[in-house]
Amino acid sequence: MELALTGITKQFPGVLANDNVNLRVAEGEIVALLGENGAGKTTLMNILYGLYHPTAGTVEIDGKPVQFQSPGDAIDAGIGMVHQHFMLVPVFTVAENVILGDEPTKRLGVINRAKARDAVTEISRRYNLDVDPDATIEDLPVGIQQRVEIIKVLERQARFVVFDEPTSVLTPTEVDGFFEIVQSLKADGKGIIFISHKLGEALEIADRIVIMRRGKTVAEVLPKDIDEAGLAELMVGRPVDLVVDKAPADPKDVVLAVENLTVLDDRNRRSVDGVSFQVRSGEIVGIAGVQGNGQTELVEALTGLRTPLGGRVRLKGEDMTTASPRAMHQANVAHVPEDRQKSGLVLPFTVTENIILNSYYEEPLSRGVIMDWDEARDRATRLVEEYDVRTPGIDVPVSNLSGGNQQKVIVAREFDRDVALVIASQPTRGIDVGSIEYIHSRIVEERDLGAAVLIVSSELEEVMALSDRVLVMYAGKIAGEFDASASTTEVGLAMLGSADEAEEAS
Ligand SMILES: Nc1ncnc2c1ncn2[C@@H]1O[C@H](COP(=O)(O)OP(=O)(O)O)[C@@H](O)[C@H]1O
Ligand SMILES: [Mg+2]
Repeated sequence: MELALTGITKQFPGVLANDNVNLRVAEGEIVALLGENGAGKTTLMNILYGLYHPTAGTVEIDGKPVQFQSPGDAIDAGIGMVHQHFMLVPVFTVAENVILGDEPTKRLGVINRAKARDAVTEISRRYNLDVDPDATIEDLPVGIQQRVEIIKVLERQARFVVFDEPTSVLTPTEVDGFFEIVQSLKADGKGIIFISHKLGEALEIADRIVIMRRGKTVAEVLPKDIDEAGLAELMVGRPVDLVVDKAPADPKDVVLAVENLTVLDDRNRRSVDGVSFQVRSGEIVGIAGVQGNGQTELVEALTGLRTPLGGRVRLKGEDMTTASPRAMHQANVAHVPEDRQKSGLVLPFTVTENIILNSYYEEPLSRGVIMDWDEARDRATRLVEEYDVRTPGIDVPVSNLSGGNQQKVIVAREFDRDVALVIASQPTRGIDVGSIEYIHSRIVEERDLGAAVLIVSSELEEVMALSDRVLVMYAGKIAGEFDASASTTEVGLAMLGSADEAEEAS
């Protein structure tokens, strides 16, 4: 019993997204499909799911060729897909989402709903998913929403399940839970395709690892025969430095001083609650924490996107508590935002336009009221080269670029001047190892040039690797401070609030 994709080629206008790709998965097997952003993984899976038609190649199930005109055909053939972005209706319940698109007629709606509740309960119990059929999607954490997608796939009798970058939205604890689910699917005889760009995850979960690079399948390996460095090299096509290479910090003057800062979130809760810390020139301070402990609001307050309720933010002594984003930019603060697509870039704008997004009004780009486009294009050309942005050109919309390359556009724009303070949120979320190595090295370079650097990341390993000093944020407060030599376990415990509990207990 096997699913096989053979010789799959997919030509988009100007892009050969899949080039003679081969992939097979047996029932009861977990295959990791590993590749950098833009390698062609999602395209291949969209072909398997009937969303795209291949330019060439065949899909076979149990040795018989199949042709899918739509996802409906793929589902009927036993293929299930958990997409990178969930396709759930937020205001519907779990059960309603599970039957959505599956309802034969309106008349049967009531019966189906009852059946759906039973199905959810049964599947949830069988695979230990712990999902309440009556919960409303928008009230559920991302990890549980993902389980709803899994239930949906299982309810349709999938024999082969594709997960497209399932862990990129999960916290470390949620990832562990997710892997347990994948193992139970495997034990139940499902064939699993697990897409990721995270080396450790592929090594941990997969029976076999298939590596794609630039549209081609370049290698197939067994986890026991390879390590992270080997996988990274196959993925990127060159040896990659997986450890951040940096000298000990030499901190100088205080650049950023945060004093007793309190910030309300959108629901008027004190998501930052009396936080104080400093960042000096020449040091990288990392803020670790499980997402949702106030980091987002803290960064918004520090970059002028949210007005604090109380406390002070000083930049080189000057009060910037209520400064606008533009004022922060003009004070030489570089900001790499958490959600690059929402607040870092204007997706339909070109690479050039995004590069000048926050400086078009400054000399030499603007002379009075006239915009100097030659100057803008020269700058874009230079930065694309310098920051190794892979793009067909400076005049294409940034929406055409892969996530890693979009992130490089932001980093290039933000770092291409004399930077006093870098504030980088989730600087490498969802991007591939080659780009991570690059962005990390640019951040260290800014430090060595004398910038004060504040990194906020929910990836503990990233914080530990980059930072000279680590602060842990928990429930809106700084729950611990560690130096670079602290163990991940110690810091991880503080992230779960255990220090807090210890304090309360004493
Ligand atoms: N619908 C599309 N039209 C044109 N190009 C596309 C389309 N979908 C993907 N591509 C391009 O195909 C390549 C592979 O993309 P994708 O399959 O999404 O990679 P991955 O999932 O490995 O990150 C990229 O260069 C991407 O820009
Ligand atoms: Mg993809």
